[in-house]
Amino acid sequence: MSAPNIETIVSLAKRRGFVFPSSEIYGGLASAWDYGPLGVELCNNVKQAWWRWMVYERDDMEGLDSSIILNRLVWKYSGHEDTFSDPLVDCRDCNSRLRADKLGYLPSDEELRGQLAGDAIAKAIRERRLGCPNCGAKNLTEPRPFNLMFRTHVGAAAEDDPSSLVYLRPETAQGIFINFANVLTSSRRKLPFGIAQIGKSFRNEVTPGNFIFRTREFEQMEMEYFVRPGEDEQVHQEWIDSCFNWFTSLGISASNLRLYEQPKEELAHYAKRTVDVQYRFFPEREEEERQWDELMGIANRSDFDLRTHSKKPEDAEGRRLNPDSTEDLSYFDEATKERFYPYVIEPAAGVNRTVLSVLMDAYSEKTNDKGEARVILKLHPTLSPIKAAILPLAKNKPEIVGMAKAIKRFLQPVLRAVYDDTGGIGKLYARQDEIGTPLCVTVDHQSLEDEAVTVRDRDTWEQERVKVSELQEYLLNRLRA
Ligand code: GAP
Repeated sequence: MSAPNIETIVSLAKRRGFVFPSSEIYGGLASAWDYGPLGVELCNNVKQAWWRWMVYERDDMEGLDSSIILNRLVWKYSGHEDTFSDPLVDCRDCNSRLRADKLGYLPSDEELRGQLAGDAIAKAIRERRLGCPNCGAKNLTEPRPFNLMFRTHVGAAAEDDPSSLVYLRPETAQGIFINFANVLTSSRRKLPFGIAQIGKSFRNEVTPGNFIFRTREFEQMEMEYFVRPGEDEQVHQEWIDSCFNWFTSLGISASNLRLYEQPKEELAHYAKRTVDVQYRFFPEREEEERQWDELMGIANRSDFDLRTHSKKPEDAEGRRLNPDSTEDLSYFDEATKERFYPYVIEPAAGVNRTVLSVLMDAYSEKTNDKGEARVILKLHPTLSPIKAAILPLAKNKPEIVGMAKAIKRFLQPVLRAVYDDTGGIGKLYARQDEIGTPLCVTVDHQSLEDEAVTVRDRDTWEQERVKVSELQEYLLNRLRA
């Protein structure tokens, strides 16, 4: 079982402290969300799992943490200043602002053959074949590009000083490309190798929404893998398979994941081929095709990035294509004595979308002996915000409370444990099930005599008696299993 829709997760997330609407006491801010006590743990666990898989468990990877605000020229030469935009239309009747490519118009094969999909949509708007989804009127303006980068100004310079203009990064990737030579020289790497980075990115999305699925501030986990030209296609395919398997290793059901080959007209200007890992974020939608959306993109970016940021490449007339760069980001292969620009394979995932997919996938309901439906979040133990809850059976018995608190203190250096005595044991178990805590440890009257506790499993509700002296190791083994 998984969540029937995103709304189910929105209410659970707010009630239990995973995700809150941001700026709520001032009326909120559209599509901005704050991660609460459990949400921050879940995000951290997702990022740690990714970093462990991507960096620690490989021999060909380095990490990086580059700035959010970079020299504006980075975004000029990456192509973002010119092309990182969505086609925007306005409804003249109700003043809604919409993305032209999300109006549900599917260009016919003939239109696709004859012209770009974007032109076909513009034509449909001109001919009033397309209407505004909010009011139904067929009175839309022509599409115009809207750049998604957030602009700001650095330093005490006035806002009207154009030289102070900078952007908040819309992807973490460019920070990696501009540091390619630094990482290569300082780490003495040889191809193939990768550079991984996790961090915030910002896009002034025209139509954000669907909870944390599309927001203007979000976090990315990106890796750029540098290979010899000619080896790119095979390595790309290996990363596609490996990324799909990573999501299943987090406990996400393979039936809710699929690979999606981006058609030519969808490809970004730098991409030779891109395959997305999609998750079934919208299971309630009748049409199966509309249930899926992107969780991660795995692109073959060719040699576009290192070439475009390099000072050497020239046009047909011998003029430098990038007169601003001071570095050549080509690679010299000692073995073949050849110099070239490496190709780049890029798996790029969103932290927030991964969090949403693991929450949706883990959601389940179970009926207890009294016939009451209980929510159980069957999170992979690696991702669970809390690994073990220590619960005293009687909170008015100082010896039991003291022993439970001592057990919590003894466990907390090795795993995230909490103590809770704010309800009867049934209620305490139910609360931990609902937030995905895999194991509950109950201290009872008997514990005072036999120095043992009851460990109760979230998914099976089975219980086992364990000696306190063996508890730490026992829990770690159970969490690893
Ligand atoms: N460097 C390539 C790149 O940024 P992308 O497909 O635009 O590629 C990668 O972004 C991932 O970042 C997406 O698969 C998605 O998980 C996440 N992402 C992108 N835009 C987002 C947004 N507005 N809100 C939340 N996550 C987003």
